[in-house]
Amino acid sequence: MNKTTAILLAAGKSERLGKMIPKPFLQLGGKAVYRYSLDIFLAHPQIDAIILVVPWHLLADEQNKIKKESFTKPIKIIAGGETRFESIHNALKEIDNKVKNVFIHDTARPFISKKLIDNCIAHITKYLAVTCAIQSSDTLVNAAVNSSPDSYPDRTKVLRIQTPQVFDADILKKAYALALKENKTNFTDDSSMIHHFKLTPVFLIPGCANNFKITYPNDLPYAEIMLKKNKLIDN
Ligand code: CTP
Ligand code: MG
Repeated sequence: MNKTTAILLAAGKSERLGKMIPKPFLQLGGKAVYRYSLDIFLAHPQIDAIILVVPWHLLADEQNKIKKESFTKPIKIIAGGETRFESIHNALKEIDNKVKNVFIHDTARPFISKKLIDNCIAHITKYLAVTCAIQSSDTLVNAAVNSSPDSYPDRTKVLRIQTPQVFDADILKKAYALALKENKTNFTDDSSMIHHFKLTPVFLIPGCANNFKITYPNDLPYAEIMLKKNKLIDN
């Protein structure tokens, strides 16, 4: 039985990066950025199946590429939607009722490690919604740029959410159904959606600074450096 399915997201437009090619498909150290996440999830013994979500215009190409390889577990490639919410919703439609847990990961985070997945799995036995989160090294403020601060939250009490995240499949599907019903689909991640609909407490586990999301142009040279140093860093 395919108990745990991983949804790997690669269908965004990468507008903040501003490149012609979407960031998951840029080359990094000789392979596409998304391939780092795919390889980690493929190699993980507790991941049973994978759904890779790509932009429409790359769907046929990526499906052809995958056909040429032989994988040890089922992998499906589907087209994403206009928003991250829609991309995940498309993937959830592909997941049958026997799946117990669903991982969600942004492939724009190529430095995900086996250890982060292990820790998610270790906690999903006790909680039904688990996400990685890290502390901020910068001082935080409630304000918009070019304005005066409203307040300074205590940095030690505010965390930054990352992926991977893992959810009980039924809870995640319920959250999507409620979001659609209430026409509230502008969540930036799934843990906040589950929290919003009070479906189950979200449990936070330590993420990793290395597991950053390629977002702005400056993140690309940083990713190149990280790749070279990766073997030296305890991920
Ligand atoms: N993503 C997706 N489908 C979308 C939007 C985002 O699969 N419609 C994926 C991205 O490919 C990325 C992850 O969700 O791996 C996190 O999103 P983000 O960093 O915001 O990526 P983009 O939306 O592509 O970037 P931007 O917001 O700068 O346009
Ligand atoms: Mg985005």
